[in-house]
Amino acid sequence: MTDAYAVFGNPVAHSKSPLIHAAFAAQTGQDMDYVALLAPLDGFSDAVAAFRSMGGRGANVTVPFKEQAFGLATRLTARARAAGAVNTLKFDADDVLGDNTDGAGLVADLLGNLGFALAGKRILLMGAGGAARGVVFPLLEQSPASLFIVNRTPDKAIGLAREMAGAGGNLSGGGYDALNGRFDLLINATAASLAGDLPPLPADVFAPEALAYDMMYGKDTPFLAFARAQGARVADGLGMLVEQAAAAFEVWRGVRPLTAPVMRMLREA
Ligand code: ATR
Repeated sequence: MTDAYAVFGNPVAHSKSPLIHAAFAAQTGQDMDYVALLAPLDGFSDAVAAFRSMGGRGANVTVPFKEQAFGLATRLTARARAAGAVNTLKFDADDVLGDNTDGAGLVADLLGNLGFALAGKRILLMGAGGAARGVVFPLLEQSPASLFIVNRTPDKAIGLAREMAGAGGNLSGGGYDALNGRFDLLINATAASLAGDLPPLPADVFAPEALAYDMMYGKDTPFLAFARAQGARVADGLGMLVEQAAAAFEVWRGVRPLTAPVMRMLREA
């Protein structure tokens, strides 16, 4: 019998995950099916329960349900606990494993696809919401020289840095007016790109050879245009999307798919 998987979100129609997982399944010869399911804003856990009762084996979870998925899990991986959010669920009888592959996806894209080593680098993480929270621990694991979380509401950045202090490393947070010096890697994890806005970044934050990374994908963002104008190298979040999917696929199927051909397919589409 074909194993069933789904991505739950609201909205979810735009999701590229069904395309990505279909490509992974074809590539690795796994007998599985993967669909996008729209869950009502107040009906996430019911939607997941219905899917499980029909034999669903696992799910991805996207906005705005990642915190609720965290609550649904009976067992959490360390990286999901650190993120306080779950993007991958695996169902085995009564067991619901909650994992979070977003941070691993970002790190795999940086190291593997972009060839950008993180050890010893000065990193600026913009934003202090769910998207930022999910990547702090995996970034710190790579031993950067420092990680500064900057946010429009400074207290949220300071609070997030404090909360994550247990991970060790040179981690701090503040507002845009507290930015100090130049950064080797600047990651936009704010919702500003969605609204076509540029976070209030000064022009002199880019170190020579800096990489500017926007978690959003599919179109040039004001942040990437600004970074390019300052001479920085730029990358959008398509690689992170495909890498987090590959990591989820491995959690479910125990097989690691190749990501490069799938990234190429999405870029050409
Ligand atoms: P997500 O789950 O995508 O991280 P979120 O939790 O709503 O979404 O967080 C959105 C983040 O984008 C926040 O850090 C927010 O800053 P505030 O905490 O000050 O609200 C940030 N953000 C949204 N619009 C922004 C803008 N125009 N400029 C800078 N930061 C912005």
